[in-house]
Amino acid sequence: MVHIVVVGSTSMDLVVTANKRPGAGETILGESFYTVPGGKGANQAVAAARLGAEVSMVGCVGGDAFGEKIVHNLKENGVSVTNVEPVPHLSSGTAHITLAEGDNSIIFVKGANDEVTPAYVEKASSTLMDADIIMVQQEIPAETVEYIADFCKKHHKKWLLNPAPAREVSEKTIESATFLTPNEHEFAVMFGEELRSEVLARYPNKLLITEGENGVRYFNGIREEVVPSYVVEPVDTTGAGDTFNGAFAVAIAEGKAINEAIRFANLAASISITKFGAQGGMPMREEVVGKL
Ligand code: RIB
Repeated sequence: MVHIVVVGSTSMDLVVTANKRPGAGETILGESFYTVPGGKGANQAVAAARLGAEVSMVGCVGGDAFGEKIVHNLKENGVSVTNVEPVPHLSSGTAHITLAEGDNSIIFVKGANDEVTPAYVEKASSTLMDADIIMVQQEIPAETVEYIADFCKKHHKKWLLNPAPAREVSEKTIESATFLTPNEHEFAVMFGEELRSEVLARYPNKLLITEGENGVRYFNGIREEVVPSYVVEPVDTTGAGDTFNGAFAVAIAEGKAINEAIRFANLAASISITKFGAQGGMPMREEVVGKL
């Protein structure tokens, strides 16, 4: 079994469904409200665990009831929480999600995720050293991402940066990462006005641009490839990117070729959006393998 370590965020997602988004200064009536576990780090950990990997989470929760529920949910999904600590004086991370007009909008409040500092992650060094691949996102401090970049370069560890939500990423981090998986918006924040084709060619088999229903684009060393996504009727697209990343990491750690790993991840992501909640539709291994 491959071992994946996720250094990242945890959250409780507070989800409102409504038939439209309110404008500034406007109050509208919503349709329903749910609390479900989320956070890009935890979502990716759960996605990878359901697909058969041994997964260790390195993260923080608040000293509140949400924190207890987040840890419980990780355990229930088979994710090791040895390196997930409660921070008594802080609230758990929360994501305030509106589902309306066929899409989501999210405000993420980091809370305890700000305590996932380099010093905190350093305590989990032996777990990191044991990983086949390390996964990181950007709902934790930027210094921590830099720390992982240095750690993985020094110890020749494979690591994947999912640069979400968007923020600038240092050249050093981009160079150190084994895989980068921005969506189109995150790509624009990272690389500005540079031509997409030139950036892709600079990072062959490393930079994967996720383009939603249009598939995933990368440069294979000879030409640009687009691996198409699977067509499904979406119920909730929250967590699709996280499912893609978790599944891709599993497939790569298992030794699949990049094209095959993307196909596997696209399929897992398409299944995930057929149910409500970031983790609600994340498939088990058998569901994906049965449809490949
Ligand atoms: O990627 C989806 C996730 O982003 C949600 O679960 C929410 O927690 C936000 O962090």
